[in-house]
Amino acid sequence: MPDDDKCKECNGCKKQTRWRDDFPIQWDKDEYVTRREMVKFLSLGSLLIAGANFIAAAVPRMQSRQEFPRVRIASAGEIPAGGSQLFRYPTQEDPCIIVRNRAGQLVAYSQVCTHLSCAVVHSPEENTLFCPCHHGYFSVEEGRPTAGPPNRPLPRIKLEQSGDYIFAVGVEV
Ligand code: FES
Repeated sequence: MPDDDKCKECNGCKKQTRWRDDFPIQWDKDEYVTRREMVKFLSLGSLLIAGANFIAAAVPRMQSRQEFPRVRIASAGEIPAGGSQLFRYPTQEDPCIIVRNRAGQLVAYSQVCTHLSCAVVHSPEENTLFCPCHHGYFSVEEGRPTAGPPNRPLPRIKLEQSGDYIFAVGVEV
């Protein structure tokens, strides 16, 4: 008999304690969880969490292997040093910007600011990509944030040149 069941007056007789009268427990209707059931529950729970983590890690990798179309976006001769042009890639819903930097190289990025999705614009005087919403700045050379609230780089658009034509061929996130 557990100590709680013992009579407090004589500490041993079988007399019911008062709480049993006030709060009767029907042990036969009570449900027990065995140790085996508990271990099974915890194992399944751990497996589910591990599976969810695996999926969360795999999805971005699968997205990065996404096939992108090859789309002609500009003519190289149309973009002078320090100049820029807008285009859409990979779909008509995705605004992008191509810039010829001071070194004469063409670079292209998504125009969607990585802070709160305003459109970035090229500022040739400051040689930067500027987001007017909250004064975010990105480097033209690498698309990385240099000032303001954004802390992730702009997705870079992969380019290929064939003759005078510039093609967008992919997106690097
Ligand atoms: S949306 Fe670009 S800085 Fe906030």
